[in-house]
Amino acid sequence: MKKTSRKAIVVLAAGKGTRMKSPRAKVLHTVLGKPMLGRVLEQLKAIEGAPLVVVVGHQKEAVAFISRAAGAQTVVQEPQLGTGHALLCRRDALEKLGATEVLLVAGDVPLLPVEAMQTYWGEFSASNAPAGVVTLRLEDPSGYGRIVRDARGGVKAIVEQKDASPKELAIHEVNSGVYLFRTGEIMEALLKVGRDNSQGEYYLPDVFALFHGNGAPVLSWQAGDSERWLGVNSQAELARANEQLRAMVVKRLMDSGVTILMPDTVWVEEEVAVAPGCLLHPFTRLCGQTKLASGVEVRAYSCLTDVVLGEGTLVKEHCVLEGTKAGQGCIIGPFSRTREGTSLDEQVHLGNFVETKKAALGKGVKANHLSYLGDATVGAGSNIGAGTITCNYDGVHKHPTVLGERVFIGSDTQLVAPVKVGDGAYVGAGTTVTKEVPPGALAISRTPQKNIEGWADRKKGKG
Ligand code: UD1
Ligand code: MG
Repeated sequence: MKKTSRKAIVVLAAGKGTRMKSPRAKVLHTVLGKPMLGRVLEQLKAIEGAPLVVVVGHQKEAVAFISRAAGAQTVVQEPQLGTGHALLCRRDALEKLGATEVLLVAGDVPLLPVEAMQTYWGEFSASNAPAGVVTLRLEDPSGYGRIVRDARGGVKAIVEQKDASPKELAIHEVNSGVYLFRTGEIMEALLKVGRDNSQGEYYLPDVFALFHGNGAPVLSWQAGDSERWLGVNSQAELARANEQLRAMVVKRLMDSGVTILMPDTVWVEEEVAVAPGCLLHPFTRLCGQTKLASGVEVRAYSCLTDVVLGEGTLVKEHCVLEGTKAGQGCIIGPFSRTREGTSLDEQVHLGNFVETKKAALGKGVKANHLSYLGDATVGAGSNIGAGTITCNYDGVHKHPTVLGERVFIGSDTQLVAPVKVGDGAYVGAGTTVTKEVPPGALAISRTPQKNIEGWADRKKGKG
């Protein structure tokens, strides 16, 4: 007969993460651009019919914010007296949810493979075991709780590294920190767990020795891909988790037909879409919701965040692009800087030391050298001379600059916004444009040049 069970998931995220030696709570550190805890919750959301409860404590506002964004409830653990105490504090929440089975996960397992977890949960539900634990066999088990087995191979106890005997330290099978429990049994057992250990904490894994002592066999699953289950406790382990996920994403892109030169140097976040036929050079970095159409080439040391590029667009070396859309066939860089709200039509050229912000550049516009275009609209076919600056800020407000089509802006022009330049107009080099320029006109504001003959020799006293 099928047993009725109500599931809940508890994620422990109250700890400080002392070994990280960081002022930021451990679970807020990011793995491939997203907080570790957010990743764990995102994975767990795939498990249907199991509400999520996050135990928060250290830096609880920020941790709760991430939890709520993932649709989880939060409960506070204060003070933080250990993983066993953290779960015990959740008793009311679990009773309210009417949960009979609970999956317990630490918030520091960012790559948690949820499919395997679901399989284990199915086996657990079908059993009568009070508890189950996912174990890992590690070449280097240091830092983890060791799985001590009895003569029949059952889990006898889990012993923390700091409390282990030399014989126990030699065990290579460790506790992943992911468990399944029957709510009634675990709460009862936790009441019996003490804190007489090297860290003075209530250790959750101590319940396994209690279950064994009561003759209640527990389940254990030794996971094959241990890399995915590893908890992050130190900066080195954080770097390892980042590297693992980064390498997975880069490999997936190469498998799909993207050419990546020196893949070990390329950082791509997993929501980035790169079409087959794109070329990524060494040391490129693609972040956020970036999308590259076929034939896009991104050259070395360029960093793109939330950037959408059309077919065949080329980003040369050392560009920093953010919140930008560009059509096909654009050439950007080297050393271009586009900021949020930049939109480039087809075949736009942006060159070195050109910065744009909230700027819409029409088809074929060229701004090749040393410019700032902010709050600006530039019509198709216009040419922006070297050193052109939109003076968009009066110290209080931002103002727009609107240039028509086929406009020619001479070098070293200042466009004092709000200002308009009509279609086909010319602005002479060195002009400060403060008034509207009609279509087809030439605006020029520089002082007429005067040449003083023989001046140099007179200065030197020769004249
Ligand atoms: C824990 C296990 C260890 C296991 C390892 C796997 C214990 C005592 N040890 O050790 O057997 O091999 O995970 O990664 O459980 N937390 C709270 N409240 C607290 C203390 C911790 O919410 O009072 C949270 C932390 O924020 C963290 C999680 O519990 O997310 C685990 O704590 P952590 O200190 O990382 O335990 P480990 O030493 O890794
Ligand atoms: Mg840990």
